[in-house]
Amino acid sequence: MKAIVYQAICKKFKGNAQWAVDHVQAEIEEGEFITILGSSGCGKTTLLKMTNRLIEPTEGKVILFGEDIGTVDPVVVRRRMGYVIQQVGLFPHMTIEENIAAIPKILKWEPERTEARVTELLELVGLDPEQYRRRYPGQLSGGQQQRIGLARALATDPKIMLLDEPFGAIDAITRLNLQNELKRIHGGTNKTFLLVTHDINEAFKLGSRVMIMNEGRLLQFDTPEEIIRHPADPFVEMLIRSAREQESFWESAFAVSGESPELSRNIKGENGV
Ligand SMILES: Nc1ncnc2c1ncn2[C@@H]1O[C@H](COP(=O)(O)OP(=O)(O)OP(=O)(O)O)[C@@H](O)[C@H]1O
Ligand SMILES: [Mg+2]
Repeated sequence: MKAIVYQAICKKFKGNAQWAVDHVQAEIEEGEFITILGSSGCGKTTLLKMTNRLIEPTEGKVILFGEDIGTVDPVVVRRRMGYVIQQVGLFPHMTIEENIAAIPKILKWEPERTEARVTELLELVGLDPEQYRRRYPGQLSGGQQQRIGLARALATDPKIMLLDEPFGAIDAITRLNLQNELKRIHGGTNKTFLLVTHDINEAFKLGSRVMIMNEGRLLQFDTPEEIIRHPADPFVEMLIRSAREQESFWESAFAVSGESPELSRNIKGENGV
């Protein structure tokens, strides 16, 4: 079953000469973990927001599970999907518990069910439920707020999760843990994940397939292995080359300090980050 089909989807904002998203054509199977990689301003957020009708396309269609979402009430479309926005966007006057329970409340879940789900989700994102559930977002660090954003998006167990740079404000070690957590959460389900990042290591580590975008266009959409082996475009080649250069920096740094490659791999993690 195709979870998401983009049919020549385009967006041009009023007053802009350039396409923010330029005729993107792609099919995503249910259960895939897709990452969207590209530099700032290349249209990643716009593509994601057209997937849940936060932005209406200028041309083209988005089909979710066989249904043209242009024909569905935007509120209904959004409620069916988990969405972690780039700026976290927690409700400041609501406690962490109330934030995570926002959609369950709209859907009129029993209080016991909601409470149990909040506990489960806080544990899942690595925050002690008793310590955090009654706090307000302003009493959390940026990274902790991002984890609450993730918990909130997962609350009703949606089939599709849209994640817009969910780990932007998180330090490298916590980020690695959360990446692994996210992979685990995805692995145990048939959920379709769409995760936006500008970090090539994150994109290639998490994505079963990676969409590489530049200036609104989808340059390549393939498995990490295939992209590395056959970059379809000079921009993609450049991306890979820059990642390799970074990698060789680490290799030489460890060589100078006399560490074994084994140790360097352990410290840096499987992808050398
Ligand atoms: N509401 C808007 N009105 C006008 N132009 C917009 C609007 N939203 C986005 N744009 C423009 O569309 C282009 C794509 O923006 P988008 O937010 O999708 O980029 P992005 O890839 O998510 O970037 P970043 O990595 O910085 O978040 C940019 O040039 C941006 O300035
Ligand atoms: Mg963005």
